[in-house]
Amino acid sequence: MAAIKISPSILSADFSRLGEQIRAVEKAGAETIHLDIMDGHFVPNISFGPPVVRSIRKATGLRLWSHLMIEEPLRYLEAFRKAGSDGILFHRESVGDAAEMIRRIHDMGMKAGIAINPGTETGFLKDILSDLEAVLIMTVHPGFGGQTLIPETLVHIRETRRLAAALSIPPVIGADGGIDLDTLRKVIHAGADNLVIGSAIFDREDPAEAFRELLKAARQSPDRPQHDTE
Ligand code: DX5
Ligand code: ZN
Repeated sequence: MAAIKISPSILSADFSRLGEQIRAVEKAGAETIHLDIMDGHFVPNISFGPPVVRSIRKATGLRLWSHLMIEEPLRYLEAFRKAGSDGILFHRESVGDAAEMIRRIHDMGMKAGIAINPGTETGFLKDILSDLEAVLIMTVHPGFGGQTLIPETLVHIRETRRLAAALSIPPVIGADGGIDLDTLRKVIHAGADNLVIGSAIFDREDPAEAFRELLKAARQSPDRPQHDTE
């Protein structure tokens, strides 16, 4: 089994010190930065777009995954690729043809992941899971950092993990929203291996220390299911 990873989400970072805060979690061992892109339509909040991604790309060599919480994500793929995204997480709810999106993302040389809202069933995944590098189960309704994890979403992680095991493929299964020292056990127990964490890292005085504590707790967690495929 691959080790559990934590992807810091910079949504709750101090944007006036973004480079510094990213370098802090990088030094603490982060390998990937999660970028929450919001357009005020798909979700009721606005965050940032390609120019900020471009600046982050200059500040770090870490992998950048852009989580597109926007309408018509296809229109913006090229902009996010040019800005330096290594991977794109698009929402099932924002596209008609998910397989086509995956193809387009791969054709541009990026990794593809699909994000699933709390109210969306996971059944559709069986047809596309083998084409994806990542699945991101939303454990809150997307739009804001600092929300409380919705326990009913854990079943989506379990279903995705079971499907991956049945197909003998190892996509990265992420969980996003409301994850902290108290709740990380639950998402790990359900089968997540990538924890996207925002406020529990960047609301803290020392984000690097928070990252280290969370990663240690995640990797020591006795709750990992054994039906993994790696
Ligand atoms: C929510 C975003 C999350 C969010 C996580 O819409 O997709 O990535 O930043 O933040 P926390 O960890 O504060 O729930
Ligand atoms: Zn996110």
